[in-house]
Amino acid sequence: MLAAGAGWDQIASRLTPRLHPAPSPREFLPSPTAFVARLAHVPNEEATAAVAETPVDHLVHEMMSGIERGIPARLARAQAPPPTPAWQGMLAGLFGLVRLTRPATVVETGVGLMGASSTFILEALDRNGGGELWSVDADRYFPLFGVHVGQGIPPRLQGRHHLVVGDSRQHLGRVLAECGGPQIFLHDSLHTYRNMTFEFRAGWQHLRPGGILLSDDATNSSFDDFAAAVRGRPLFFDCGSIFAGMSRPD
Ligand SMILES: C[S@@+](CC[C@H](N)C(=O)[O-])C[C@H]1O[C@@H](n2cnc3c(N)ncnc32)[C@H](O)[C@@H]1O
Repeated sequence: MLAAGAGWDQIASRLTPRLHPAPSPREFLPSPTAFVARLAHVPNEEATAAVAETPVDHLVHEMMSGIERGIPARLARAQAPPPTPAWQGMLAGLFGLVRLTRPATVVETGVGLMGASSTFILEALDRNGGGELWSVDADRYFPLFGVHVGQGIPPRLQGRHHLVVGDSRQHLGRVLAECGGPQIFLHDSLHTYRNMTFEFRAGWQHLRPGGILLSDDATNSSFDDFAAAVRGRPLFFDCGSIFAGMSRPD
């Protein structure tokens, strides 16, 4: 999602759709609302209401203020540009999904400087009045600028947040086991076929029955191949990057 400032990661992520091209056709949903309705198993009207409740402008303002407190505004905007309308739509979808499914635990990989996915998930958990978010991020690049991942996450939401700093290969299995298994798992770290497949396997294995596997930047075939291996039904939504989701049968 973000310009993570990561030279090798960006090259690897860009190469992987060429090495493992996404299959066609895929089942694309026309809106974040339709995507959320299918994954949460609710009527479209209910999903529309949950997504519409998202305080998008307020959260974007809080996140941008947070990163501008850490580094000069121009650098902040270069490293974490304000979300595009399409991306805001997906963040609102993420918020709506958490509001509708009321998870006790969410796990994500990839926080970024702004912490946009973390912030929207945490805001929804806060409104739910319960639930915890565990995030794993290697935090390799931003310390060069004197800041750390999650700089934009509003302090008022950090009480429900457990940020684990380190490579997902080393930490994800432990986090998934220790948190007792999430209802929602989101991949948004290193988008190579190998790393995505590793994280999907780990996340799926610990996902609670009826839980939801999500991935941003599903531009290679890893999500499709994983879904075929577990006989799941993958859904996609184009928010500028390709967002993917799949429910685990109860
Ligand atoms: C695209 S950003 C995440 C954006 C974030 N989800 C958001 O909505 O703002 C990708 C993040 O993945 C992290 N990352 C890259 N490779 C990783 C790995 N192997 N393990 C854990 N985190 C990693 C980077 O440090 C970076 O912060």
